[in-house]
Amino acid sequence: MIGNEIKELFGIKYPIIQAGMVWCSGWKLASAVSKAGGLGIIGAGSMHPETFEEHIKKYKAVCNRPFAVNLPLLYPEMDSMVAIIEEQKVPIVFTSAGNPKKYTAHLKSKGITVVHVVSSLKFALKAQEAGVDAVVAEGFEAGGHNGKDETTTFCLLPLVVKSLDIPVIAAGGIGDGKSMLAAFALGAHGVQIGSRFAITKESSAHQNYKDAVVAAGEGATALTLKQITPVRLIKNKFYQQVEEAESKGASTEELVQLLGKRRAKLGIFEGDLEEGELEIGQFSAAILDVPSAFDLVKTLWEDYENEKSSFIKRLS
Ligand SMILES: Cc1cc2nc3c(=O)[nH]c(=O)nc-3n(C[C@H](O)[C@H](O)[C@H](O)COP(=O)(O)O)c2cc1C
Repeated sequence: MIGNEIKELFGIKYPIIQAGMVWCSGWKLASAVSKAGGLGIIGAGSMHPETFEEHIKKYKAVCNRPFAVNLPLLYPEMDSMVAIIEEQKVPIVFTSAGNPKKYTAHLKSKGITVVHVVSSLKFALKAQEAGVDAVVAEGFEAGGHNGKDETTTFCLLPLVVKSLDIPVIAAGGIGDGKSMLAAFALGAHGVQIGSRFAITKESSAHQNYKDAVVAAGEGATALTLKQITPVRLIKNKFYQQVEEAESKGASTEELVQLLGKRRAKLGIFEGDLEEGELEIGQFSAAILDVPSAFDLVKTLWEDYENEKSSFIKRLS
């Protein structure tokens, strides 16, 4: 049955994973998703170690189902985060943005399931070699930081599925039953959904950001800052400033300075729609409401089942 490997690997009911997302996925979002039968992920990327520990404790106080944390490997205080993961007995870790060789063996020696996010076949093979239990193959439709090769989910996923022996979770542009069906048809064992879950009641993002995403239509996002780390965001004033700087031949240092340190917090968490970084994926064009994440998991699965039935009818 589709999704069985992933359901067994994580101990969940539906092969639906809510992505780790800076300023969106704290304990509230993660626990709502896990309670509904998906896998909730606490995103550590925007948290200091104390905040991270607090979120894990709050999650455990309200939900006893499996959960994961997302650790972007470029994080400056990695050793403290790993110590907290061990102390708190976090069962699953999704690593991203860095070399999976660095922590995989250590985490696995503690009995932790490890998944790594990749944007290319080359990185997927490296992750498998590093010993991860599964990979997330993320196409460049996705919100947030992205691969330099700009490979779409449709092209990346079959390549990775064909070449790896471990389960592959699809990400990028998935947010309803039809896109889930497409991901499974391309060989995915599960789906990781970011943008759609960022715009839910339990997401800790600011209401201004949620409203901006609901209002965003086709073509509202772009992949920018490719000279530093490519990131997909809404084309707002900050994006225009980056474009202008780049068109004048700004150096990497100048772009790093323009970006500064708090842009994502300013946009996503504090709701500054002009100066902030409004990270979101291309799926934003299809996001028209702000449902509860708990309901969304159920709706996504029902929607997928309905789409599957009508597709089978269309085939016959
Ligand atoms: C607001 C936002 C923040 C994100 N932050 C992170 C992060 O901290 N770490 C990470 O690995 N990926 C991050 N991502 C990417 C997601 O984990 C996920 O892979 C991606 O959103 C999937 O594509 P989708 O947005 O089309 O659903 C972020 C995405 C969004 C929309």
